Amino acid sequence: MDKKDLISKLNWFYSLELNQVDLYNAQSKTFRKTYPGLVFERSAFIEQQHVDNIGEKIKELGGKPSLIGDILSPLIGRAAGELVSLTGLEDTLTVNILIEQKAMNDYKDLLRRLNSDNCQNKELIKILQHNYVDEHLHTEWFRTKIIAIKYKEYSL
Ligand SMILES: [Fe+2]
Ligand SMILES: [Fe+2]
Repeated sequence: MDKKDLISKLNWFYSLELNQVDLYNAQSKTFRKTYPGLVFERSAFIEQQHVDNIGEKIKELGGKPSLIGDILSPLIGRAAGELVSLTGLEDTLTVNILIEQKAMNDYKDLLRRLNSDNCQNKELIKILQHNYVDEHLHTEWFRTKIIAIKYKEYSL
C-alpha cells in the first residue's frame, strides 16, 4: 500500500470518526439525564480522540486531514436527519452497532493490509489497534443494553 493510498484510507476513518462524534453528541442530548445519554457523551469524547489520533497520523504522513462528508447515511441507508432524530433507544443502539461494526471491519482490514505489507510504522499500528478495541467496547455496551431492554433487566 503506497503512502497516497494509506493517507486516503486514513481520511476515510477521519471522516467516519468525526461523523460519529456528531452523532453521539446528538444522541447524548436526545437521551440527556439518562445513563445511556452519559454513555453517548463519553463515546463522543472517545471518538474525538480517534479523530485526533488519525488526524495526527495523516499530518505526519504529509497529508491534510479532510472531511469526505456524510458517510454514515449511505452506510446504513438512512438520511442524515433521520439518523440524528432517532428517539427510540433500541433503534439508536442498533444503528450505533452497525456503524461500530463497519468501523471495526475497516480497522481490521487496514491492519491486515499493513501487516502483509510488513509495515514498520509501529505507532500507527498501535493507534489503529487501540481504536479498534474502543469500538469493540462501545459495541459490547450497546449490545448488552439492547439485551437488557429486551429482557427488562435492571441496569443503570
Ligand atoms: Fe472511533
Ligand atoms: Fe466507537
